[in-house]
Amino acid sequence: MAAKIISGKEISQQIREELKKEVQELKEKHGLTPGLVTILVGENPASVSYVTAKQRTAHDLGFYSIQDNQPEDITEEALLSLIDQYNKDPKIHGILVQLPLPKHIDEKKIIHAIDPRKDVDGFHPVNVGKMVIGEPGFLPCTPHGILVLLDRAGVEVSGAEVVVVGRSNIVGKPVAILLMQKRKPVGNATVTVCHTATKDVTFHTKRADILIVAAGRPKVITGDMVKEGVVVIDVGVNRIGTTPEGKAILCGDVDFDSVKEKAAAITPVPGGVGPMTITMLMKNTVEAAKSWAGLPSEVG
Ligand code: GUN
Repeated sequence: MAAKIISGKEISQQIREELKKEVQELKEKHGLTPGLVTILVGENPASVSYVTAKQRTAHDLGFYSIQDNQPEDITEEALLSLIDQYNKDPKIHGILVQLPLPKHIDEKKIIHAIDPRKDVDGFHPVNVGKMVIGEPGFLPCTPHGILVLLDRAGVEVSGAEVVVVGRSNIVGKPVAILLMQKRKPVGNATVTVCHTATKDVTFHTKRADILIVAAGRPKVITGDMVKEGVVVIDVGVNRIGTTPEGKAILCGDVDFDSVKEKAAAITPVPGGVGPMTITMLMKNTVEAAKSWAGLPSEVG
């Protein structure tokens, strides 16, 4: 079977067009411009490339956007005070601190310091709690993007056997929670989560109708580990080399070439989940702006 390619790039583009129109309307009808600040500490090349893409997208959609670069040796206290400044800034509706942070800074403390009403990453415990009990709040961008991809690709999730490989706070745990929720349009799945202590990963992956892989290691899922007709969502972004022009060569956590022979549908890397993460960040920022302005919003 030749797998259908689920293009996150194309689906993202559709949603970005929808958001662009919405931003224009918010400006015209309500004088409201969504505001996003992305804070980058240090110069980790992957982080630089992610925040650059986030800022470019925010700018394209017509946001008020600030890229705030801070030195690698900024103190925890100074970073907390910067967050406090943006918490109080009425032009800013969304605050994103790019992770990972340098070792001398406690990530938890930083995430906790962001006003939950500006937490467009959906990492603050208030938003995580709301997600777990199914209350409106900010959903984390990558899991939210996966849900939208499945929805727009027409994948039947209700009643499906979903297997998630990986249990991170950013992807594995939240995507498992969201997919098992009694929620529409995507939810109601039976979910299994595999992790580093799982005895027989293949036993589980072979049962999956939908397989979501966020293991953080290149090509760990191969064709012999999946069943015919599976839908595969590959969350991995692994840098496995550099082109002569200096561009990163990327691959997913799934061995695309062998798995695509058995899958009904699969996301590519790059061009799959990655663009959706950025798009859902933009969506969260628009919803944050509406919420701050007292307009109906999906985040309550
Ligand atoms: N680092 C890797 N992914 C993410 C993300 O979604 N948000 C933030 N803030 N940092 C990240």
